[in-house]
Amino acid sequence: MASSFAAAAVLLPCLPSTRSRRTTPISASASAKNETRTLSSLNSPHPIPSCFLVPRRNVIATVLSSFILSPQWCHEVAFAQPSTLFREHIDTFDGYTFLYPKSWIQVRGAGADVFFRDPFVLDENISVEISSPSSSRYKSVEDLGPPEVAAQKVLKQYLTEFMSTRLGVRRESNILTTSSRVADDGRVYYQVEVNIKSYASNNELAVMPQDRIPRLEWNRRYLSVLGVENKRLYELRLQSPENVFLEEEKDLRDVMESFRVLKTVD
Ligand SMILES: *[C@@H]1O[C@H](CO)[C@@H](O)[C@H](O)[C@H]1NC(C)=O
Repeated sequence: MASSFAAAAVLLPCLPSTRSRRTTPISASASAKNETRTLSSLNSPHPIPSCFLVPRRNVIATVLSSFILSPQWCHEVAFAQPSTLFREHIDTFDGYTFLYPKSWIQVRGAGADVFFRDPFVLDENISVEISSPSSSRYKSVEDLGPPEVAAQKVLKQYLTEFMSTRLGVRRESNILTTSSRVADDGRVYYQVEVNIKSYASNNELAVMPQDRIPRLEWNRRYLSVLGVENKRLYELRLQSPENVFLEEEKDLRDVMESFRVLKTVD
């Protein structure tokens, strides 16, 4: 009783002084045009004080449940677990741009056109794939068919990529949502969201069926944003363990929504 009262009393002074991280400058080097665009795309209709935007919600729970409450706890938490800042990645040569969490690092040679990953959660990453210019004649993402049809293709692609030759591996996939939207650049983008679970039995060669017990190996969320420009199909893909996705959902959705394709000069 006493401790929750203390927590509330400490929380209130934090509220007016904290800036929403939506207003944090994205990139000092971004051109004025791009900067304006990215900032407006991030203008959330529901600004939340950054005090509550600590990425790991359990940090707040831990702090609240502990009895050590100092008037500065809000700042201490903010320093220990900086709330997400984004950085803009612009590729004018290949024609696309998106925002990614500032702490993520670029990995070269990962096969994609560009690849970033969370340095702490190693299987959380974002990448961009582009269809080869000679093989594609896309005019709009709608050439793929309606979003539901495109989603089937995306899922098929995922499952092919993650195909396992190991004995006793089973994948369970679910298309969670498909959507289409016209972004502020006037282009249509599709978004596909999929959950895939992988089960493996640890003893596939066991004689008795009851010894071949499948266990959940991983449970992941995959999000793809598809766009077309320069007659090419672009895909921004996010891969994340399901539990991490749920924890960082707001940030990860901002990343997906920031994706834009750009006309290249040739
Ligand atoms: C990206 O994440 C996926 C799963 O979320 C993982 O399987 C893959 O190995 C990661 N890629 C890299 C290069 O880290």
